[in-house]
Amino acid sequence: MACQGKQSKHVTLALLVACWFVLLSSCKANLKAETEALLKWKKSLPAGQPILNSWVEQINSTASSPCIWHGIACNDEGSVAEINLAYSGLKGTIPMNIRMISKVQYLDLSINSFNGSLPLSLANLTQVYELDVSQNNITGKLDSRLFPDGTGKSKTGLLSLKNFLLQTNELVGRIPEEIGNSKLLVLLALDGNYFFGPIPSSLGNLSDLTIIRLADNQLSGQIPGNIGTLKLTEVI
Ligand SMILES: *[C@@H]1O[C@H](CO)[C@@H](O)[C@H](O)[C@H]1NC(C)=O
Ligand SMILES: *[C@@H]1O[C@H](CO)[C@@H](O)[C@H](O)[C@H]1NC(C)=O
Ligand SMILES: *[C@@H]1O[C@H](CO)[C@@H](O)[C@H](O)[C@H]1NC(C)=O
Ligand SMILES: *[C@@H]1O[C@H](CO)[C@@H](O)[C@H](O)[C@H]1NC(C)=O
Ligand SMILES: *[C@@H]1O[C@H](CO)[C@@H](O)[C@H](O)[C@H]1NC(C)=O
Repeated sequence: MACQGKQSKHVTLALLVACWFVLLSSCKANLKAETEALLKWKKSLPAGQPILNSWVEQINSTASSPCIWHGIACNDEGSVAEINLAYSGLKGTIPMNIRMISKVQYLDLSINSFNGSLPLSLANLTQVYELDVSQNNITGKLDSRLFPDGTGKSKTGLLSLKNFLLQTNELVGRIPEEIGNSKLLVLLALDGNYFFGPIPSSLGNLSDLTIIRLADNQLSGQIPGNIGTLKLTEVI
């Protein structure tokens, strides 16, 4: 019996060590993909953006690369959790491969000169709670596929989104009803774009929504009746 106990202890230990290695290598693989994605993004941007000078691969360093770069913060597992490049004089487009930074929770690219459209791959950022691309030159539509599908079983879409700031861009088209499937929304700022059409009634279902900013668009129709039942502190 004692021997069996000892054996199972050994087995447990071996399993733990194996798990640790598997976890470590998957973390490293993830970080490598994130590093590559960020470097590729940097490369895609027009030259002469000194704010990104620290974005280089440290080949000789054990310190993990992107985690010590300007504007980047990592979580305890060593994955990129925050990208804060607000007010950095950046030009270019938001990369399609942003989905590779899959653990990001905070993404702030506000007050720059980014143009082009919002890439659909933002839908893969299921953990992002703050997404701020306000005050850029972003064009195109707000794609309904950025949001969860509303079945409650959705594995993609902006599932964790609380603060969504798109104000002062050049977005056009309708605000998709699906925006109401991002159930945790607290702050929605869409003011200063070219949105038209009705205000989605699905917003009335969002129990945490406290600030909606819709001014300076070409929205028509009425604020849906059910929005009045929210505890809104600000509607402009
Ligand atoms: C890595 O190498 C560069 C130049 O070769 C050096 O400046 C830097 O201090 C090195 N970093 C570490 C952590 O050794
Ligand atoms: C947006 O682009 C226009 C020209 O197309 C430019 O005048 C303006 O400064 C840009 N805005 C921002 C915030 O980069
Ligand atoms: C973004 O702006 C630059 C410089 O004004 C321009 O050359 C480029 O075509 C624009 N890209 C998109 C996708 O609008
Ligand atoms: C992104 O989401 C799509 C589905 O919308 C999925 O097929 C794809 O595997 C996801 N990519 C990553 C890198 O998670
Ligand atoms: C609000 O939520 C309820 C229950 O989930 C759903 O039946 C209804 O269609 C939703 N209303 C809107 C306008 O999305």
